[in-house]
Amino acid sequence: MVIKMIRVENLWKSYGEKKVLQGIFFEAEKGKISCIIGPNGSGKTTLLKILNLLETPDKGEVYYNNICLTELNDNGKRFYIKKMAMVFQQPVLYNSNVFDNVAIGLRIRGLRKNEVTDQVNDILKTLGLYEYRDKHAYTLSGGEAQRVCLARALVLKPEILLLDEPTSNLDPSNTQIIENVIKEYCREEGPIVILTTHNMFEAKKLAEKVSLLYNGKIIEEGDVKNFFERPKSDITLKFVNGEIIF
Ligand SMILES: Nc1ncnc2c1ncn2[C@@H]1O[C@H](COP(=O)(O)OP(=O)(O)OP(=O)(O)O)[C@@H](O)[C@H]1O
Ligand SMILES: [Mg+2]
Repeated sequence: MVIKMIRVENLWKSYGEKKVLQGIFFEAEKGKISCIIGPNGSGKTTLLKILNLLETPDKGEVYYNNICLTELNDNGKRFYIKKMAMVFQQPVLYNSNVFDNVAIGLRIRGLRKNEVTDQVNDILKTLGLYEYRDKHAYTLSGGEAQRVCLARALVLKPEILLLDEPTSNLDPSNTQIIENVIKEYCREEGPIVILTTHNMFEAKKLAEKVSLLYNGKIIEEGDVKNFFERPKSDITLKFVNGEIIF
């Protein structure tokens, strides 16, 4: 069986003079949680946006199951974008209630009303949001809003799930809810999951594979045990020992 994976090759991206990504090679497999860890400004969000085909690299390619996505025309890209869901670092919610915010992707895909209702209700229950279904999205707390964004992504059952700092700024109980759902979802549905964080405890708890992004380069990567127990680079060692904190 061929393992589904997403892969980038020699990715470069600058904004003006700032070289944000400098020759990134990275891959993530189906059924595993891959974590990109790095300090503020290291290029995590930029890398996820390129994977999601929202940003175009200056150089380099994105492959999904050996299909080069970056070479496709707009129609081809749209086809693959529909297989992905990204949860952004800052929750983006529409001017409507929680139910509509979660239902939007299913409605765009043309599902029948009762299918939309069932699937949205299920995911709202999973994320502890069912009682908020009629609440206006703009009146939610940060943690609730972040959960709504995750629900909106998960309800689509994407093949590739991109999570940009899914628990930053959340309290421990919201963090726990989100981490449990991510773990459970990854086990059951087995998508490719890539999440970014600057929190090593989150990486340890969730990830199977960890890649350290530093100044636009992947300094070190490996399975979670080797990464934290046997780091090879000085930067990783300092980070793991708590001498530098991201
Ligand atoms: N659209 C843009 N235009 C100009 N500069 C940008 C743009 N997007 C990102 N940058 C710059 O690129 C660098 C990397 O940004 P990016 O958001 O990818 O980092 P990050 O690792 O996600 O950081 P954080 O942990 O703060 O979210 C930063 O210096 C940022 O200011
Ligand atoms: Mg970011």
